Order: sequence, then structure tokens, then C-alpha cells
Amino acid sequence: MGAHALEKAHGGRGVLLGGVAGVPPGKVAVLGGGIVGYNAALIAVGMQADVWVLDRSIDRMRELDPMLDGRATVAMSNTLQVEEAISEADLVIGAVLVHGARAPKLVTREMLGLMKPGSVLVDVAIDQGGCFETSRPTTHLEPTYEVDGIVHYCVANMPGAVPMTSTRALTNATLPYVEAIADRGLAGAVRSDRALARGVNVMAGRVTYEPVARDLGHPYIPLSEIVDGAPV
Ligand SMILES: NC(=O)c1ccc[n+]([C@@H]2O[C@H](COP(=O)([O-])OP(=O)(O)OC[C@H]3O[C@@H](n4cnc5c(N)ncnc54)[C@H](O)[C@@H]3O)[C@@H](O)[C@H]2O)c1
Repeated sequence: MGAHALEKAHGGRGVLLGGVAGVPPGKVAVLGGGIVGYNAALIAVGMQADVWVLDRSIDRMRELDPMLDGRATVAMSNTLQVEEAISEADLVIGAVLVHGARAPKLVTREMLGLMKPGSVLVDVAIDQGGCFETSRPTTHLEPTYEVDGIVHYCVANMPGAVPMTSTRALTNATLPYVEAIADRGLAGAVRSDRALARGVNVMAGRVTYEPVARDLGHPYIPLSEIVDGAPV
């Protein structure tokens, strides 16, 4: 999506990520090297872009280096490094996640001034509030908008563009839980499956996941107080 938005006709700078013989490749900065960030980096590397991945977990960076086979630069995420990366990048992918909390705002509006006009921000973390200050959710019908000359792509349900693939992938992971709920009922299923119990955010109208309750200003009620015998 970022490569598409970088095309001139789609509002971008008009840069081909892979470059051509005699013309250097485009630069991609991926903020957050988890599942999304790794896959974005892998595709960008495949397009022969010059790729940087920033994460703040040393363990994750140790994993990423061999996973990307040295074909991307993996660096520690801090304000200085983010500023340097976005000022050089043609495309920035926001892929950070802090479990159970809103995404941290890694790029402020002021920092857009460091970027090259027509460069592109893809905020994948938009479903958790977005990791760029200027992000707001968009849809596939109108996926991009511009702020201070920077193209923003902030579709909150990116997998919805490829439902044949994404629905099958999601169902592979979720169907066992659906079957457990169908067999044993909701209370029975959470009683007998700790993983499912840990995934319950709301039950009987109560917020049963502490960070979500805190972030949304609701009281937190432990699941075990709603379902007798639920794992604590
Ligand atoms: N828009 C969409 O359609 C869509 C689709 C899939 C995922 N998402 C969202 O994308 C985000 C990433 O998902 P994921 O599965 O890759 O999560 P993940 O937990 O696998 O990875 C998140 C990474 O962010 C890193 N991180 C946290 N704070 C950071 C910081 N300040 N600087 C740099 N890195 C930091 C973590 O160390 C971790 O490696 C989530 O918010 C998820 O909900 C959105």
C-alpha cells in the first residue's frame, strides 16, 4: 500500500522503491518490528528498497537480524533515531504495539517538518489509536489524506482488502475457540481454556481486562468474579 501511495498519481513523491540501474532505491523506515513490521520489512526488502526497522526490544532485534538475513538495518527505537529515520525515508510504516494500551505517538505533527514532501506514512497501528499524531482512521474507499505535504494511509482494517486470504487466515486461528464456545457455552469454555479466558475483554457488560478498563475509564472487574471457576 505504501509503494502504491508513493506513486505520483496517488499523491506521493513519485519514487519507485526498488530504484533502477543508476538510480538509488527508495528508503523505508519500519517503526516496530513485530509481526506487522517484520512482514512489511520482508516485502520492502523483496522490492529491493533500502530498509530500516526500529524496535525498542533488544530481544526482538536479536531475532530480527537473522530473520531478515542482514538485508535490512535493525536499530534501537528512540526519539533521535526516529527523527533521523523519518527525515531520510520515502515511506514510513507505523507498526508498534504496546499490549492492551493505546499506541505511543512516535511521530508528532512538528516532526512532519523533518520529512521530504510527498513522502508517505502508513499507520498500521491506527486500530490502536495510531502511532503518528496526525493519523485518523480511513477506509479502503478513501484510504489516504495529506497533512503538511505528507501522505497518510490509515486504513483501520487493511486485511479487508484481501478477504479471501485474511478470512481464512483468521479463521485458522479462531475456529477452535468458536467450536469450544459452541460445545460448552461461553462460561464453560472460559472455565476450561486459560488462553480463551485471558482473551476476554468484556463479559456481562463488565470490562474484564485491566489495561482496557484503565484506558477507557471503566471499572475493572476480574473475570473470575463474573464466571465461577474461571482461571485467575
Ligand atoms: N490496520 C490494520 O488493518 C492492522 C492489521 C494488523 C495489525 N494491526 C495493528 O498493527 C500493530 C502491530 O501489530 P503486531 O501484530 O505487529 O504487534 P507485535 O506485538 O507483534 O509487534 C509490535 C512491536 O512494536 C514494538 N514496539 C513497542 N513500542 C515501540 C516503540 N516505542 N518503538 C518501536 N517499537 C516499539 C514491540 O517491541 C513489538 O516488537 C497493532 O496495533 C495491530 O493492532 C493493524
